[in-house]
Amino acid sequence: MSNSLLGMAELTRDQINHLLERTRFWQEHWQAPPQVLANRTIANLFFEPSTRTRFSFEMAAKRMGAHVLNFMESASSTTKGESLYDTVKTLEAMGFDAVVIRHKENGIVHSLASLVDVPLINAGTGTTEHPTQCLLDLYTISQHFGTVKGITVAIIGDILHSRVAMSHLAALPKMGARVIISGPRHLLPTEVLGPIEFWPIDQAVAEADVVMMLRLQLERFSDLALSVDQYHRDYGLTEKRAKMMRPGAVIMHPGPVNRGVEIAGSLIECERSLINRQVANGVLTRMAILEWVIQGES
Ligand code: CP
Repeated sequence: MSNSLLGMAELTRDQINHLLERTRFWQEHWQAPPQVLANRTIANLFFEPSTRTRFSFEMAAKRMGAHVLNFMESASSTTKGESLYDTVKTLEAMGFDAVVIRHKENGIVHSLASLVDVPLINAGTGTTEHPTQCLLDLYTISQHFGTVKGITVAIIGDILHSRVAMSHLAALPKMGARVIISGPRHLLPTEVLGPIEFWPIDQAVAEADVVMMLRLQLERFSDLALSVDQYHRDYGLTEKRAKMMRPGAVIMHPGPVNRGVEIAGSLIECERSLINRQVANGVLTRMAILEWVIQGES
């Protein structure tokens, strides 16, 4: 039976562990991956810009033997008024095996999933969920520390507009991690569910095993209420602040990065940084996800 990947809120701990185990499998078979998706066809439907997610889905699918077709919104019949539902039903009728969707509208992939049979993958929707980024981050944490359980993760920055943060707030407590959030008050959600702690940034940085910085998403709001330089000084991971990190603590960021805003440019490739490891793991994790949605948990 096939699955859709809608959000981390819907996944059980066992399902997350299964996906992490299969990511490890694909890492071990990176040089000659079994062609388990030969003759399958995947559609990439991205209604918002992407580099990492779109390319890594395409690379993941091709490494497993699948064909990939990339949808171009400006050249599609959506410009003639066709709805997303009718677009996906059209792809389903053509026989696509999975549809990867990024869209600005909260909850749209969840709504579509109840209306179509083709497996859907949420590649980032609105400000609510980015489960594939969350899974690759969990894999990166477990690869580095040997576990996610018991790890303290500080998620810092523009949490209000971050679908990555929302997926992590749903997943990390489920996996036994301790979660701290930090950032300007007006960029924090007014309500978070679960055992989430709020700390000022200096304490959050000093306490965490994983310092996860988030991009300031200025495309989603207009009034930052302080200058970008002030934001960097007060809420960014500066070189000075990074010196407060515990021995063995690591820096993560889902990307794309605003150098000198949420993180000093010099820290992106420093010894503590797992940022490029996250990108590499994105391909492996998406191999596990494509396998899971198309073939099920066999
Ligand atoms: N992290 C992430 O989703 O990056 P892209 O927008 O480049 O896909």
